[in-house]
Amino acid sequence: MRKKVIAGNWKMNKNRKEAKELIEALKPIAQDKTCGVIICVPFTNLETALTLTDGTNIKVGAENVHFEKSGAFTGEISADMLTEMGVEYVIVGHSERRQYFGETDITVNKRLLAGLEAGLKVILCVGETLEEREQGITEEIVAKQVKIALQGTCEKCIKNVIIAYEPVWAIGTGKTATAEQAEEVCAFIRKTIEGLFNKEVADGITIQYGGSMNEKNCAELLSKEDIDGGLIGGASLVAEKFGVLLEEASKY
Ligand code: PGA
Repeated sequence: MRKKVIAGNWKMNKNRKEAKELIEALKPIAQDKTCGVIICVPFTNLETALTLTDGTNIKVGAENVHFEKSGAFTGEISADMLTEMGVEYVIVGHSERRQYFGETDITVNKRLLAGLEAGLKVILCVGETLEEREQGITEEIVAKQVKIALQGTCEKCIKNVIIAYEPVWAIGTGKTATAEQAEEVCAFIRKTIEGLFNKEVADGITIQYGGSMNEKNCAELLSKEDIDGGLIGGASLVAEKFGVLLEEASKY
């Protein structure tokens, strides 16, 4: 049985004071939960998050990483800079990065490899747009994203990858995929991993759902066999809401 993992994605939210308040509120809520707990925060809150979560069961992640080791890349952050701070996780390939910042499957692959090489655990986001779903090419799109992003990975390092299935049409829109739709694609991603590696790797990998997952709809989504947790935007910004997700995920 795979342990469920709930990861918050704060996006571009929370100044330092607000981050401190949210983490302090989260600590007692997360304390006795058996699911994995991760918060991915803006770069400016990493130091605060690492200090405040030290010795707790809350893991800290960044929201992006650059693929080069160092150099003339104004505004970027390298994987080594993150690991040096003690950051454990990083999100790559979020649809907002693909949509607004020109991220492609190729650059997502480079970021993923750079993260793994530096020792980070990588949360890889994939998902189709509404247009692609309506065209009936969800599986093709998701398979392509997964296959390109994982090019050059090995059976050993794939253990440090979490895949988050996030249909673009469900992110921040309040439109959640039905539990059946989410399960169908998460199961398909697992099959794709089996094809790339083997059944053991596929059975072991954590596949999350993300996209308007919240305290109200999480129970049904998390009850599905191939949904191993969630990548949570809006509902991760309020401790009590995030707490409900952690509670639900800890039932498994
Ligand atoms: P949402 O965001 O929960 O606000 O839809 C999820 C995500 O983008 O990771």
